[in-house]
Amino acid sequence: MKKMIVLLGPPGSGKGTQGEKLSQDFGYIRMSTGDMLREAARNGTPLGLKAKEYMDSGALVPNDLIINLMKEKIASLGDVTGVIFDGFPRTVEQADALGEQIEVDLALNLDVEDSELVNRLTRRRSCPQCNAVYHLDYNPPAKTGVCDKCGSELYQRSDDTEETVVNRLSVYRANTMPLIEYYEKRGRLQTVQGIGSIDEIFDKVKKAVR
Ligand code: AP5
Repeated sequence: MKKMIVLLGPPGSGKGTQGEKLSQDFGYIRMSTGDMLREAARNGTPLGLKAKEYMDSGALVPNDLIINLMKEKIASLGDVTGVIFDGFPRTVEQADALGEQIEVDLALNLDVEDSELVNRLTRRRSCPQCNAVYHLDYNPPAKTGVCDKCGSELYQRSDDTEETVVNRLSVYRANTMPLIEYYEKRGRLQTVQGIGSIDEIFDKVKKAVR
């Protein structure tokens, strides 16, 4: 069983959705840099306020901020059965820094075409409390606007507008796509087609992890 798993894939490819299911099924810790940064921004911490400037435009937060944050988080993990990295690394510099701390067993790349990504992101609704995600058509909450899991009011992320999504996709191509080759060269890459129902994709994801 692979224990240190990096989730790769463009914005909206389903990293959070599949990462959460993996975490529940395997008991692994899921570490989402996006969730961490949004929480820091909501709490008004210096890191959160700085990160928000970048996130709102769809740009990446500078490497040094993210690498320092993740170094601390990984160092304080303690005795865990496995970790799912969701949204980290996102640049070669981040991947090198991660490789100095742990050995990655699997880089799981979710492959989804752009037109589907725009639809998924602009119609996504998120929970500010427990970070659950929904889609207005494919995966709606039982009660409109309310999180099934914790009852909080759902919101639309400020970076889920069409204009910012288009920018996030080009930032992904320039900075994060090279990680596909990075992990392929190291014999760690598996690609899963991310189109189909959430459960169909999860079956393929589980096979890759085993
Ligand atoms: P982050 O929060 O990591 O965003 P992202 O990578 O752009 O990914 P998303 O959360 O948008 O999508 P996802 O792939 O998790 O898809 P999801 O499962 O939600 O990062 C946000 C920002 O933070 C970055 O832009 C950057 O500024 C900063 N940041 C974070 N990490 C950083 C780092 N390491 N370095 C620098 N900056 C960093 O699914 C999307 C939607 O589709 C949902 O509505 C879902 O319900 C739906 N869906 C999922 N699967 C399916 C399916 N099979 N069929 C139909 N719909 C589906």
